[in-house]
Amino acid sequence: MGKLVIASGNKGKIREFEEYLGELGLQLCPKPAHLEIPETGTTFLENARLKASQTALATHCFALADDSGLEVDALGGAPGVYSARYGATDAERIDRLLTELGERPSPARFVCAIAVADPQGKIVAEAVGTCAGEIVHTPRGSQGFGYDPIFYVPQYQMTFGEMSPALKGQISHRAHALAQLLPQLRQLRFEGD
Ligand code: IMP
Repeated sequence: MGKLVIASGNKGKIREFEEYLGELGLQLCPKPAHLEIPETGTTFLENARLKASQTALATHCFALADDSGLEVDALGGAPGVYSARYGATDAERIDRLLTELGERPSPARFVCAIAVADPQGKIVAEAVGTCAGEIVHTPRGSQGFGYDPIFYVPQYQMTFGEMSPALKGQISHRAHALAQLLPQLRQLRFEGD
């Protein structure tokens, strides 16, 4: 059975990837706990590529990595690739974003880039998915994580924080990226671990 290392320590993400990639019949493995790759890229895709190839080289296996975050138009695209580092906790990150935004309304989008590297570290598949919405100034809902309570999707008249995990799982940036990635992965021969 082919093996794919998921370059993420986040159990929730690993579960999501398992659901989407199940049909490929691969053994999905978590990355070694000691392996930390600094996100030095300036785009989501650069970071995903970097983490995928470094993890593949370190484990001698195919490796999948993602990088994601929130871009707010009125903040010039911030927090962007710094989404996870914008504050110490989810609450502090939301506070900082709302303070910097002030009263302004703003379109925003979640972005997710995913890259897969072969055991030699070469990128063999990649995709970027987005989900468009708006920032609401009062957090709503307790589902999800991160910036979900302030990310409003007009089509469903709900924030991500108010959405069921099933609905968010269908329309999210990660879902869109995975939908583009899957046909590329079906073409690959996973071997050599
Ligand atoms: P990553 O784990 O390096 O991709 O960092 C992603 C960061 O972006 C997280 O810490 C969250 O703050 C934010 N983020 C990414 N995806 C989501 C999402 O689906 N909901 C809420 N916040 C997200």
